[in-house]
Amino acid sequence: MTLTVSVLGTGIMGAAMARNLIKAGHTVRVWNRSAGKAAPLADDGAVVAPNPAEAVRDADVVLTMLYDGAAVREVMSEAFPSVKAGALWVQSTTVSLSDVDQLAAEAGQHGLAFFDAPVLGTRQPAEAGQLTVLAAGPADRRDEVTPVFEAVGARTVWLDRPGAATRLKLVANSWVLALTHAGAETLALAEALGVDPDMFFELIEGGPLDNGYLRAKAGLIRAGKLSPAGFAVTTAEKDARLIAEAGRQHGVRLDLAEAGAERFRRAAEQGHGDEDMAATYYASFEN
Ligand SMILES: NC(=O)c1ccc[n+]([C@@H]2O[C@H](COP(=O)([O-])OP(=O)(O)OC[C@H]3O[C@@H](n4cnc5c(N)ncnc54)[C@H](OP(=O)(O)O)[C@@H]3O)[C@@H](O)[C@H]2O)c1
Repeated sequence: MTLTVSVLGTGIMGAAMARNLIKAGHTVRVWNRSAGKAAPLADDGAVVAPNPAEAVRDADVVLTMLYDGAAVREVMSEAFPSVKAGALWVQSTTVSLSDVDQLAAEAGQHGLAFFDAPVLGTRQPAEAGQLTVLAAGPADRRDEVTPVFEAVGARTVWLDRPGAATRLKLVANSWVLALTHAGAETLALAEALGVDPDMFFELIEGGPLDNGYLRAKAGLIRAGKLSPAGFAVTTAEKDARLIAEAGRQHGVRLDLAEAGAERFRRAAEQGHGDEDMAATYYASFEN
């Protein structure tokens, strides 16, 4: 089935998702706040729109991939009057649990079918169309939205209701962020103690303490390849705060998430905000 899909937000993830939707044969309309990030998609075959209202005209599916819930509300308030009734809204931005409820309610008020659809995977899986989509929305519209998930992802995990997908996403990101900080701090400690990091990696090699993600992030730090970011420090800080807030609201203390958010804030303050979140490493040093 060929659809008209409007992608609002063509940052790291949105641009890659838009390109894969085009490759899958869909008609893709894009908009981004900074026009410079949407313009190159014209060469791939996207229609570049000057504002959200123009971008969503004639769309069967609106896909939001923005920074946070506030950005989604702001952009969709401009888009709502132009979206055709009955269109599908795939909301892939990582937002708070209360944002999901609010956005789902707004979708209902404007006659849109809302899919809570955050994704797992970073720049490279997004570019390869290999994301994992966590999806929850009206069961009777699943078949219509499936071609979109198949274009951007390798796997769709269906959940029973909006909010459940974002819950699972926050749980998964809690693990991802904790691993990133743990690897960065371990390297910082090795450096401070004069321990060759290779000795540490040899020590854990192939055993239960070894971990592919640790090796990937440590590799970026050691090679100084933190730009372009797969997942930027400022975005990771936003997610850490969403995780800590979700924990607080549900009666659990998440000390690592709180401390991790502060590490990301310090790294951003040191000038690493646009670098990959592995730059949390720098937060271990005064400057
Ligand atoms: N990168 C990853 O590995 C990854 C993985 C899974 C999920 N996510 C989630 O996916 C979302 C996008 O992440 P990303 O890595 O693609 O980030 P990104 O490259 O920074 O893109 C963020 C997008 O949001 C736009 N934006 C921010 N504030 C806005 C506002 N007030 N109004 C309109 N547009 C606004 C930005 O526009 P400008 O270009 O004008 O700044 C940009 O298009 C985030 O929620 C993130 O948590 C990221």
